[in-house]
Amino acid sequence: MKKHIVILTGAGISAESGIKTFRDADGLWEGHDVMEVATPEGFERNPELVLDFYNQRRKQLNDVEPNQAHKDLAALEQDYNVTIITQNVDDLHERAGSSNVIHLHGELRKIRSSKDETDIKLWTEDLRLGDLCEKGYQLRPHIVWFGEAVPMIDQAMAVCKQADILVIIGTSLQVYPAAGLMDFAPADTPIFYIDPKPAIGSGGQIKVIPKSATEGTVDLLNLLHKNG
Ligand code: APR
Repeated sequence: MKKHIVILTGAGISAESGIKTFRDADGLWEGHDVMEVATPEGFERNPELVLDFYNQRRKQLNDVEPNQAHKDLAALEQDYNVTIITQNVDDLHERAGSSNVIHLHGELRKIRSSKDETDIKLWTEDLRLGDLCEKGYQLRPHIVWFGEAVPMIDQAMAVCKQADILVIIGTSLQVYPAAGLMDFAPADTPIFYIDPKPAIGSGGQIKVIPKSATEGTVDLLNLLHKNG
């Protein structure tokens, strides 16, 4: 039986691919107030701005590549049963080769009906005001905005409960319920947290690796190798 490694990732793992994090730039995300572009109220106030913002983020995916950290995590599948739980809406884990990825906060390459959150489709082009679902409702990005429920959280909690090893990479652990997932790991499960500015310190079952994702993942692989 292979051990089950559960890996929770945040914006920091994609930073070295050139995608900006959320909280490293004074609360602005690509020049926008997060409340303006990542809330249902912001979408109601100015749908064109919000659609355009995510159109740009979707286009940006064509200009970025998975980095070595994404690739190293994908390679772990040779020796472990790996589940990645990501807060990221990019597709870099999948493009690096990871086969089991839970997106907690949605995906840029998908859109959904603004009426029915289960009516989801793949979408590669720009999304415009007037693009409607089959039932006639405006389509919107398949993104979990602030104030909205996180449909994948129950599945993510169940996975964390079964983790033999938990790894957390590149997240400020500010946003719940994602930040609370580590509490579901069994008490004897080691937790490794890779982040150059870690939000918590080492202690108990938690070992902090205060490095970037690509450097810290190398340390992680060495530690896993030593511990068998
Ligand atoms: N390698 C690893 N971590 C890094 C790197 C790097 N090269 N560069 C920055 N970081 C770390 C920062 O130190 C910070 O702790 O990445 C983290 C990014 O934190 P946030 O910007 O808060 O991103 P995240 O934790 O993913 O945000 C959670 O908030 O806005 C919402 O829905 C959005 O999914 C997002 C959620």
